Amino acid sequence: MTTGKLIDGKAFAAQLRERVGTYVPAFHQAQGRAPGLAVVLVGEDPASAVYVRSKGKATREAGMESFEHRLQDDVSQGDLMAIVAQLNADDAVDGILVQLPLPDHIDDKAVIAAIDPAKDVDGFHVVNAGRLAVGEEALVPCTPLGCLMLLKDHLGDLAGLDAVVIGRSNIVGKPMAQLLLQESCTVTMAHSRTRDLEAVVRRADIVVAGVGRAEMVRGDWLKPGATVIDVGINRVAGAQEGKTRLVGDVATAEALAHVGAITPVPGGVGPMTIACLLRNTLVAAHRRAGMPDPEGL
Ligand code: GUN
Repeated sequence: MTTGKLIDGKAFAAQLRERVGTYVPAFHQAQGRAPGLAVVLVGEDPASAVYVRSKGKATREAGMESFEHRLQDDVSQGDLMAIVAQLNADDAVDGILVQLPLPDHIDDKAVIAAIDPAKDVDGFHVVNAGRLAVGEEALVPCTPLGCLMLLKDHLGDLAGLDAVVIGRSNIVGKPMAQLLLQESCTVTMAHSRTRDLEAVVRRADIVVAGVGRAEMVRGDWLKPGATVIDVGINRVAGAQEGKTRLVGDVATAEALAHVGAITPVPGGVGPMTIACLLRNTLVAAHRRAGMPDPEGL
């Protein structure tokens, strides 16, 4: 029985954050300020509050400036748009992230469209999605960018490999497919209407699962030696009464008997997202200042 390797996203993310931090002093020297990231949180969603806190902490640890805007649940569309406009105009702000999901009364598409594409470190603006699609310099969504980094670190050149992306969201699936295509993979996008997903997954050298369905991909679906990136974070009932635990979209323990390597949940893709946010903020800061992109990030 083969035993696959667990890909240590936590360790890779820690290294990436450290590398990002090494570029900050030279930027500060050249520009008289550190790169700055503004995060906007609307309402009190506990999971979002945790993410925002850890983003702020990671930003400061990398030596960058963190600006946090916490707004009431019932903030108006106009007031939120005014804050985005103010952050667009603020030269100390290189990156703007509006934490999703937003309350139902807010038009999230309009909010994202209002962000200056040069500061759109989430890569959600249609200008950045379009640039990615046509292969121009873009800010790329953090989660798929982190997945690609882990894949390249593990596999090296991805050209010619069969990749299956499960999930077609604008945040994960679509940009992930674009990135894999750019690496010359043969890309299949699977989703909730795909027929015989098992057969589609079985031919893949690379599987990226981001659908939010606990352990949907079973171990025996996977091609022997495949590399699996599990983007899912699903909370399920734990072994003990009243306890919960996190699982991915892939049945990890089963998969380890088949795959070459797989990212664990937690500790795989999750830590990469924040590290890539810092990376995107640093890159946005350099581009806005007319400086060349930092190398090797
Ligand atoms: N909510 C969950 N993940 C993300 C993310 O990557 N960006 C934003 N803006 N909101 C999120």
